[in-house]
Parts: sequence; structure tokens; C-alpha cells
Amino acid sequence: MSNIVIKTVGLTKEYVIGMQKKTKILALDHLDIEINKGETFGLLGPNGSGKTTTLKLLLGFISPNEGQGQILGKQLGNIEAKNRIGYLSEVSYLYNYLTAWELLDFCGSLFGISSIERRRRIGKILDLVGLAGKAHVRLSSYSKGMLQRAALAQTLVNDPDLLLLDEPTSGLDPIGQREMRDVFLKLKDQGKTLFLCSHLLSEAELICDRIGILHKGTLKKIGKLDDLLTMKHSVKVRAMNIDKETHSKLSKIPEISVVGNESDKSAFEISFNENLVNDVIDIVRSGNSQILSVMPVKMSLEEIFVETVESGE
Ligand SMILES: Nc1ncnc2c1ncn2[C@@H]1O[C@H](COP(=O)(O)OP(=O)(O)O)[C@@H](O)[C@H]1O
Ligand SMILES: [Mg+2]
Repeated sequence: MSNIVIKTVGLTKEYVIGMQKKTKILALDHLDIEINKGETFGLLGPNGSGKTTTLKLLLGFISPNEGQGQILGKQLGNIEAKNRIGYLSEVSYLYNYLTAWELLDFCGSLFGISSIERRRRIGKILDLVGLAGKAHVRLSSYSKGMLQRAALAQTLVNDPDLLLLDEPTSGLDPIGQREMRDVFLKLKDQGKTLFLCSHLLSEAELICDRIGILHKGTLKKIGKLDDLLTMKHSVKVRAMNIDKETHSKLSKIPEISVVGNESDKSAFEISFNENLVNDVIDIVRSGNSQILSVMPVKMSLEEIFVETVESGE
């Protein structure tokens, strides 16, 4: 069986709005992606970039104007494929007079799962999301973080192979975010494929194998996180006792930046492009200075994100 869980080719969605249906919004513009089994993929983009539209297209809730896609080997919207998907929408409305156990029992019955099997599964799922101790407490008394984990539990009732998660930790405090992330990591360990839409970069940085950056409906970048983060190719040297002469030699090279102050002899940081590494080390060592460290500098995901989004403005 193919290893590809999601594949889209030229997937495009245009919304038409207004009384006369004259205003068109290109929400997704020819999206081509392939997501492999077991992968945790992060689709990142600012608000309005087309993330939720992508998920709705993948689920077959809306139809594309152009292009096509497959999910778990079936056409978008196929019922068999949907049976193997768990979807956590951007906003979950749960019946808050139910307990977590009752909620999962209800959802399980909608999938036609037998009561014996439901009992077996629900215990495991609540344990996984850290709500086993609150299984018989009404959702109305849950905290926001607990509610979001209950919503995630609901998406796991059918033991899905693929999880589509729309801004799953948005609005949660750092502890709530971490608790959700821990569950994602456990699901990843179980071999599930995770497709996560988010504008929270730290979240993607911590759990995703690969990310894509979406802006105004266009996929601007896609790749392994490590590859994207090392794109800058710059180096930082920390040195002490940089004398005036060395300082002036370094300052003459326009691509080099020197941060430090002569009264604090240990605090010099010299940043430059990696092709200058030998020149910089020669200059620093020709004086009385000592090199403390030489480090390649990785770009943060935030820098990549802002650069990508701003270049598209
Ligand atoms: N049902 C809709 N009707 C008209 N425009 C929509 C609809 N849903 C989304 N849009 C527009 O499509 C663009 C992408 O929206 P969306 O997919 O929700 O982005 P994101 O999830 O990244 O915030 C936005 O400009 C949004 O206003
Ligand atoms: Mg959205």
C-alpha cells in the first residue's frame, strides 16, 4: 500500500461573496502537497491564509473550484476514508451537561462501535489525554485545557489513522498547550499521521517533522524543519580581548557585525556569513584576542515565517 496519506494537486478554492456574488476571494491557490504515513506535518500561516479552507477541502466539506486530492488512498470526501480520520475543528462545541465518558460513548455509538468495544476504548483514550480521573465529571466544570483535551479525545473514538487538527492549542495557557502537545507526541509514537494547522510557531517547532508556510492561499515554503532552519548559513564567533586594531580590521568588512564593548573584554560577538569564517578567525587570531566559540547560527522559525510572509506582501 502507498505510503502517501494525503496528496493534493492544484487544489484551489475561491469563495464568492456579496449580494451580487461579485466579490471573489481566492482562499487557496493551487496547493500541491504530499504527506506520508506517520508524519507530523504543520501547515503554518497567519489568520486568513487558507488553513481551515485546506482542511475543509481535505474532508470534503467543501468542493474545490480546481484541482483534486486523495486522502488515505480515496478521493476527497470518501466515506471509507472519513471513517479513518479524526478531525478537531477550530472551535469545538461540546454538550457540557455530559461527562467525558458519556460524550465519548455517544460519539462511539454514532460510529456504530459496540458497547463492549466502546467501554474498552474510552478508558484507554481518557487515560491517553489525561482525563481518566475526571471521566465521570460533567464537562461544564472542566477548565479550557481539559475541554480541549476532551474535544481531542472525541476525535480519537474511531481509532483514526490520520488526525486533522485545526489550531488545536490556540487560546490555551502554556501548561494547557504543553498537555495537548504531550498527547500529540504519544499519538505520533503510535504511528498516527498528524496534519496540524497553526499560527503558533513554537508548537510546530516542537512537534513537526515537516512544515509548510501558507500565505494568502499560496504555499510559499515547504520542507523539513531542520533544513528550513539552517537556511541562513551564518556563523557567530565569541571572542575576548579584541584590541582596537583587530576591531578596526573587522569593521572594514561590510558583511561583518561586531557587538561588544572594549571595557568588557569578554563580550565580543562577531556575526558573518559562513564563507568568511577563515578570514574572521585569521584576523581575530592575528591580534591578542582569544576565540571562545565558533557557532553556526540557525534561523528561528519565527524569522523564516516573518521573512516569508513579508516578502509576499
Ligand atoms: N465561507 C466563506 N465565505 C467567504 N470567504 C471565506 C469563507 N471561509 C473563509 N473565507 C475567506 O478565505 C480566506 C481564508 O480563510 P481560512 O481558510 O479560514 O484561513 P485561516 O484558517 O488560515 O485563518 C480568508 O480571506 C477568509 O476570509
Ligand atoms: Mg482557520
